[in-house]
Amino acid sequence: MADKLIIFDTTLRDGEQSPGASMNRDEKLRIARQLERLRVDVIEAGFAASSNGDFEAVECIANAIKESTICSLSRANDKDISRAAQALRGANSSRIHTFIATSALHMEKKLRMSPEEVLAQARLAVRFARNLVADVEFSPEDGYRSDPDFLCRVLQAVIEEGATTINVPDTVGYAVPELYGNFIKSLRERIPNSDKAVWSVHCHNDLGMAVANSLAGVKIGGARQVECTINGLGERAGNCSLEEVVMAVKTRRDYFGLELGIDTRHILAASRMVSQTTGFVVQSNKAVVGANAFAHASGIHQDGVLKARDTYEIMRAEDVGWSANKIVLGKLSGRNAFKQRLQELGVQLDSEADINAAFSKFKELADLKSEIFDEDILALVSDGSVTHDQDQYTFVSLSQHSETGERALATIVFTVDGQEVTSSSDGDGPVDASLKSIEAHVASGAEMILYSVNAISGSTESQGEVTVRLQNSGRVVNGVGADPDIIVASAKAYLSALNKLHSKSDRVAAQG
Ligand code: KIV
Ligand code: ZN
Repeated sequence: MADKLIIFDTTLRDGEQSPGASMNRDEKLRIARQLERLRVDVIEAGFAASSNGDFEAVECIANAIKESTICSLSRANDKDISRAAQALRGANSSRIHTFIATSALHMEKKLRMSPEEVLAQARLAVRFARNLVADVEFSPEDGYRSDPDFLCRVLQAVIEEGATTINVPDTVGYAVPELYGNFIKSLRERIPNSDKAVWSVHCHNDLGMAVANSLAGVKIGGARQVECTINGLGERAGNCSLEEVVMAVKTRRDYFGLELGIDTRHILAASRMVSQTTGFVVQSNKAVVGANAFAHASGIHQDGVLKARDTYEIMRAEDVGWSANKIVLGKLSGRNAFKQRLQELGVQLDSEADINAAFSKFKELADLKSEIFDEDILALVSDGSVTHDQDQYTFVSLSQHSETGERALATIVFTVDGQEVTSSSDGDGPVDASLKSIEAHVASGAEMILYSVNAISGSTESQGEVTVRLQNSGRVVNGVGADPDIIVASAKAYLSALNKLHSKSDRVAAQG
């Protein structure tokens, strides 16, 4: 029987560290449920000690998810590790992932610790964690740029203390495939007790090689766990992309010879959910999940695919969740059909009240738009359309006037802590006037650093999905809004970003 490759998803921890990608507890839980449906082996749900919000998210996911192992990151100290263990109490299967930097640069400049102090702290941290849970992962941060002799000493010591997984991060995305693969191989060969742990790869994408490096770590180095994120979400250029690494191992089973537990049919829904929740749009030519990934534009290719699909396709679109029949519901569809489609799309709304709220939004949308696509439904439950109790601002209505050669005018009605307010402004165009009318009342002082519009299902009848990225006092947040009217979508996106900006955050950085 072939070895199994463990898929460790860190969308909710390392992915969330991407500026603007922060998610609230409910959003994280929804994504965790989709990851469970994907049959991801390990879900890194957060960094419990980094903030109260992260603690609650890890705790809530640990209580709700039963099929995947739930993991929390923690620095190599007793306080962080205890907090992680506390958040994980309700899990069926839990893991603590503790880390400390081991490169000369990080130890000297960031930690201001000597190598011997780092080694001692790593040892104590793993010993402490092993007293709390049976499954402990250790990561030497900036491992790939660490002195190999020192790294061997640290990794041997933490395996002696009971670490069950050894993860070797290329924290800054500096590796190239052959060298990274050989680096893992040589660590495994040199460390006498290396066979007592599962070896794992964790690659960042700064040079666009995260997937290639991870696969080399598996093939050359013998790693049996890959750490990755949906859509490759993550700090800077992101992490290794789950969908790419999984489909590479599945499609080239002849070469890798490894088993996977992943149900790949849920990949596309996961990709869309993460994109719509975070506001990070997936590029059209992205492998596996991009809009063009299975589209054949040239006549020669179309002709070939019609005659025999494998002339130009190496994977089946439906194996990753692209369905042939995209029109799903319309004006006459009932609540049950809507609820069932939500389930098929992997969306679980927690209460009947949430389903009713989403269904009434669906009916409003069906009045405006004759055909409702999967993308519309996902947008409906991901954007500000279905409001959360904790939201400070909610959209009510908007009117605007624009004419060639005239300044646009907009009047918006929205609620602030449940009270309706009306506010007006002019602007360079209708979108500008609408957002300025919100600011005229809220006066957030936030700077807009990104505004983008995307047609959800690719035609002018489609809903517009707007992403707004705001920055204020060092915090960056994304808001997403969808509506057939892109001015309304813009206003919803702006209010959703303000809701995130004004939510409390006392997070500490994972790599700080
Ligand atoms: O990239 C990195 O080094 C990390 C560690 C915290 C595992 O994300
Ligand atoms: Zn990382």
